[in-house]
Amino acid sequence: MNNRGATIIAENGIILSDCLPQLSGKETITEIISGIFSSPRYIPSRFFYDDAGSLLFEKITQLPEYYLTRTEKEILKENAPAIAGNLSPLDIVELGSGDCSKISIIFEVISSGRRHDIGYIPVDVSRSALLKSAEILSGKYPEIKIHGMLADFLKHLNDIPGNRQKLICFLGSTMGNLDTEHTSRFLLDIRSIMKKGDQLLLGLDMVKDIRVLEDAYNDTLGITAAFNRNILNVVNLYAKTDFDPGLFDHLAFFNTAESRIEMHLRASTEMIIRSPYFRYPLRIEKGETIHTENSRKYTSGVPDEISRLSGLSLKEVYTDKKRWYSLIHFECR
Ligand code: SAH
Ligand code: AVI
Repeated sequence: MNNRGATIIAENGIILSDCLPQLSGKETITEIISGIFSSPRYIPSRFFYDDAGSLLFEKITQLPEYYLTRTEKEILKENAPAIAGNLSPLDIVELGSGDCSKISIIFEVISSGRRHDIGYIPVDVSRSALLKSAEILSGKYPEIKIHGMLADFLKHLNDIPGNRQKLICFLGSTMGNLDTEHTSRFLLDIRSIMKKGDQLLLGLDMVKDIRVLEDAYNDTLGITAAFNRNILNVVNLYAKTDFDPGLFDHLAFFNTAESRIEMHLRASTEMIIRSPYFRYPLRIEKGETIHTENSRKYTSGVPDEISRLSGLSLKEVYTDKKRWYSLIHFECR
């Protein structure tokens, strides 16, 4: 095992490796400050996921407007036997695992006899999501060895333990939250930790009617707006700033040229933001925006494009009746 992070044994015996820098570490603060002082201003979207943000995201996945989760689960249910196939022994690595509810669809089609040969390695920046889901899964599937990693999938892929055959799952269209440069590098990094026979399962959201796309990010209950504003609470915690999230409006729209939903926070009044880490206070004018997320929507050429970028071979593309979502299965040959 090549794990540089401190290894913690959680209460119920689940192994958890912590690879993340300390809360309010210099690297994190510098990243946040350079984003909010940039023009245009931005906050990297991984800062959405503190305890409150992870819970809000879980609520989003249950909203009628947010078709992504239920569509991906439908596709998974239909194709889990083909995906889990007869690979065993196997380590299933899930990047950005969140509440882990999708992986249990795969576990369900693995017979209890075979489960002894399965390891599960969820990788996430959210400690609460990782602990909660590892506890639920270990109760439900006691035969499967779980090794959680509190880690950034853009930085810590080489710390993933295990040298058995791997199925890497990157679900939820989380790859769509990466910019183009990070996507290409990330795909090459994934390829570099795969050996012959290893597989990658990638869930991606597809372009569709703009109203459907925009409604998914502008739900009537305002949960997505609360999720968006919560990123300022996380910034306040890490960078000791004094943002009032209530002074920002939620904006989410489809940018056709870039084929992505963009989320922004728009200041409803002018304000001065202070932090002991700032050299001078930050002045934000009424109407100014902070870009918080891109959520890329893909077209039918994406499986071949990813294959070309990563060097992985395309095995299968699974989709739903409306072709709203794709689950793409690659193999390392
Ligand atoms: N895969 C789940 C969750 C998607 S939400 C699903 O499909 O429902 C995105 C998840 O990725 C969150 O749990 C978040 O904490 C995690 N995440 C975001 N950026 C990350 C990063 N850079 N490294 C590791 N995890 C990350
Ligand atoms: C995790 N990620 C793929 C979600 C998305 O749809 O881009 C995050 C999210 N943002 C707003 N709603 C959900």
